This record gives sequence, structure tokens and C-alpha cells, in this order.
Amino acid sequence: MDKTHLVDEITGHRRMRRNRKADWTRRLVQESRLTVDDLIWPIFIVPGTGIVDPIAAMPGVSRMSVDKVVEAVKEAADLGIPAIATFPDIEMELRDETGSNSLVPDNLINQATAAIKKAVPNIGIITDVALDPFTSHGHDGILRDGVIVNDETVDQIVRAAVMQADAGADIIAPSEMMDGRIGAIRHALDAAGHQDVGIMSYATKFSSGFYGPYREAINTSGLLKGDKNSYYISPANGTEALRDAALDVEEGADMLMVKPGLAYLDICWRIKEAFGLPTFAYQVSGEYTQIKAAAMNGWIDGERIMMETLLCFKRAGCDGILTYFAVDAAKKLAKSR
Ligand code: PBG
Repeated sequence: MDKTHLVDEITGHRRMRRNRKADWTRRLVQESRLTVDDLIWPIFIVPGTGIVDPIAAMPGVSRMSVDKVVEAVKEAADLGIPAIATFPDIEMELRDETGSNSLVPDNLINQATAAIKKAVPNIGIITDVALDPFTSHGHDGILRDGVIVNDETVDQIVRAAVMQADAGADIIAPSEMMDGRIGAIRHALDAAGHQDVGIMSYATKFSSGFYGPYREAINTSGLLKGDKNSYYISPANGTEALRDAALDVEEGADMLMVKPGLAYLDICWRIKEAFGLPTFAYQVSGEYTQIKAAAMNGWIDGERIMMETLLCFKRAGCDGILTYFAVDAAKKLAKSR
């Protein structure tokens, strides 16, 4: 060793850079990998036909009518994306105190499911049963005297879940964080003959500012009174999140989700370690928009950060990611193969 340098003899033998010295060494030692199989694409659906309506707060994302959604989902399936998650933006006239449109068998979400299933049978369809797209107050459950009532909400979302499964949904993903919902949905699905329909629990959904652009996308931001702190988890509480997830596992969840994603990677890791279930992160609207906005200003390399954040979810133990970048990332992955 050259004694004129400060690196001492012992540390000098241990050089981390040996494995980083060339593209081939770096590829050889890479621990986590992102593939198209890791991607779930969330989609916004509107009534009508021929509609592709850009969402201002989510550059590059549009609300689409069912016919356009079917075309987009075909493209996603051709790229190899395994599953989509659908969210409806329904007419204001159809929204009411209890979210009754969620119980209409051929409502927008179920129409979309049936159409997609018919046209693109090889892609998985994940549907949400939270009531927020259907309520006049933008909350995820039934509002009585200023309170989101738990058990009554569960009774309703259970019925909605069965209708969604009847329409062809492959996985029910309840995002409204009511207590006891996973067990109730499992029982009802089984009783209706839907033993093969899975449940991906939004097990740990935090009360987050990152959902802002989504609320614009489905037009609930103007409606929402108050906040969702009485049913979503506080961003301060990791151990409570684990307890909540444990209940969902006990009640029969097949997969777990952490939402939002990037600010909650510790929760992803802890959940994967604790339960070993397939674990997914939702890179939510605000996370997407931050990256897009900064990239559009030329302040960051948007594509690079898209791929970096998605890879980091894998490193944190996630089996996959719900992301508005799914199609862009799938295209990039296809090119780099
Ligand atoms: C509500 C729901 C939310 C999202 C999907 N369903 C959160 C909310 O509005 O409180 C957020 C998705 C996103 O931000 O991308 N059930």
C-alpha cells in the first residue's frame, strides 16, 4: 500500500468499490429487481363513451370512459402488466349520504369490470369497496350525526363486494379501514360462491396529505367535510399499523397493502417481515404528482426517479407496487430488456 495515502492497511483490503467497478459486476451483485410483474395500474373511470379527460393535478393521467379504458387495459396487458385497480368518478347526482350507488349491480365500476373481463380476460381486476366515490360528503363510509358508522358501513360494503365479484372482479381491495371488514367480506364472498375471489387489504392506510390529487380525480375534494382521522391510521403510528394488519391477516386477507408508499417504507418492511404475505405498496397520487411536477420544471430527471422509487419499494420488501407510472415503467422495462 502506498504509505503516502491516509487509507490504512486494514481498511485498504476492504474495498466496497470492487463490486461496483463495472456494469457486469454491478449486474451480478444487484439485490433487488423491478419487473413488469411487479406493477398494478390504477385507473379512473367516467361515464359516457369516447372520453379521455386529462386530470390537471396528475399530468399524464386521464379519466376514461369504459370503451377507452378497455383499449388502455388491452395495451397494459400486452405490456405484461398483471393487474389493474379501478376507481369510478360518477355523476354528482348519483352521490348521496349513504353512497347508495355502490349497491347498484350495473353501476359504473361494475360495468367497467364486466367490459374489461370480456375484452381482456388475462388481466387481473382489483376493485375497491370504499364508499367515497359514491357519497355526497366524500367520506369512505356512512355518515350519521357527524360519525362514520363502522358496522353499518361494513354491512353495505360487503354487499357491494359481492356485486363486484359477480361482475367479474378478481380481487376485492377494501380501502375504507372499517374494523372487521375483511372477515365480513370473506364470509360473504364464500357464501356467494366466490371462494376464488381474493382480498387485498389496504391494511395500513394512513391519514395522509398525499391523496390530494386523487380526490380531484374522482371529484371528492370539494365534497369532503373534515378529515379521515377517525378511521385512517395516524402517520405517527407504526406499531398500531402492524396490529391493524395482524387483524386483517387473521380475518383472511390474501394480500396486504401499505398506503401511501414512499414515506412508509418502514411499514412495508415490518409488514413483510411480520406476516410474510404478498405485500404491496400504493405509490399514491401525491407521490406521482410530486415527481411529475418537478420533472416538468426540469428540476429532476422524472424517468430516472420513477424507476428508482419503484425499485426502492422492492428493496423494502414489497412484492409489487400500485402506481400511476405502471404503463410508462412497463414500456421502459421492455426497452431495457
Ligand atoms: C379512498 C381512497 C383514497 C385513495 C384511493 N381510495 C384516499 C382518500 O381519498 O382518502 C387514494 C389514492 C391516491 O391518492 O392515489 N377510499
